[in-house]
Amino acid sequence: MKLLEVENLNTYFNTSKGQLKAVNGVSFDLEYGEALGMVGESGCGKTTCALSIAKLLPKEGEITGGRILLEGVDLASMPESEIRKKRWKDVSVIFQGAMNALNPVMKVGDQISEAIVLHEKGSKEAAKRRTGEILELVEIPAARGSNYPHEFSGGMKQRAMIAMALACNPKIVIGDEPTTALDVMVQAQILNLLEKIRKEFKMGFILITHDLSILGETCDKIAVMYAGKIVELGTVEDIFERTAHPYTQRLIACFPNIRGEKRIPEGISGSPPNMLALAPGCSFAPRCDRKQACCETLEPVGKQIGEKHFAACHFALGGGAIE
Ligand SMILES: Nc1ncnc2c1ncn2[C@@H]1O[C@H](COP(=O)(O)OP(=O)(O)OP(=O)(O)O)[C@@H](O)[C@H]1O
Ligand code: SF4
Ligand SMILES: [Mg+2]
Repeated sequence: MKLLEVENLNTYFNTSKGQLKAVNGVSFDLEYGEALGMVGESGCGKTTCALSIAKLLPKEGEITGGRILLEGVDLASMPESEIRKKRWKDVSVIFQGAMNALNPVMKVGDQISEAIVLHEKGSKEAAKRRTGEILELVEIPAARGSNYPHEFSGGMKQRAMIAMALACNPKIVIGDEPTTALDVMVQAQILNLLEKIRKEFKMGFILITHDLSILGETCDKIAVMYAGKIVELGTVEDIFERTAHPYTQRLIACFPNIRGEKRIPEGISGSPPNMLALAPGCSFAPRCDRKQACCETLEPVGKQIGEKHFAACHFALGGGAIE
């Protein structure tokens, strides 16, 4: 059985200007110990996808279709009362700048213990012991649990938040830009740490970022999102070496080549579409230099172009003709 199977997920927001299809037919899966990277421009639906899986959507957001199977059990249709028991246990999320969520007037260790007692319902002593273990796991000496957040560096604070996210042994951890606020060295240390823990405990990991080059280093596979959809999905090699979708090509061109020569990032001309008024056809068409007449009327569906490689483009490289 797969750890996670997301099937045709639709999450919409009800806004004063109408319905916004933030996640629109997203499908992917995750094995035990596997890491999926999710990348795309601002507003393409990455966080909404994460919040849907963790069932942490704000009240104006709603899962209107699809399934989120965690070890075969559908979270999408699970009642709120059941979900509350699962939250922080099976799926936990590390948000961007999470370190700022630490309570400044409470010792770091006490904050972690409190979260454990709240979710595990065990004794305070057991929670304290677990706190020490989990701090050591994120490479913070257990004794530092008696420090206040201001006595920690930025990287240590973020590691403390990771400890909090791991405290109840989740099956899946979602990092939503978990290292964006940190400098490059600390960012690399934290990503290495997460990789080590994921492999050791066979946890599923979803890493959300704007920076495609980070995903090549830390993930097994990558989902490229555009306007609420996954437009390309594949292994790291599929995405970087057999790039099929014009948008992925442009994203790769945006980032300095991590392995080879340095080059000037090109940027992607044009703006992302208005998610409240998506035109028919392919959402990327206004910015695509490969578009043909059919792209503006016919919406491309994901087609398989390799063993684990999918792209939603009428003219995906390696895919050939219009479906
Ligand atoms: N609470 C909300 N109410 C209405 N619309 C929302 C809400 N949250 C997000 N949206 C909209 O849903 C779409 C997807 O947003 P989301 O935050 O998931 O994107 P993202 O890919 O995470 O972007 P970023 O990279 O900026 O974090 C956007 O158009 C956004 O404006
Ligand atoms: S379907 Fe057409 S417009 Fe869309 S990405 Fe492919 S070639 Fe470009
Ligand atoms: Mg986001």
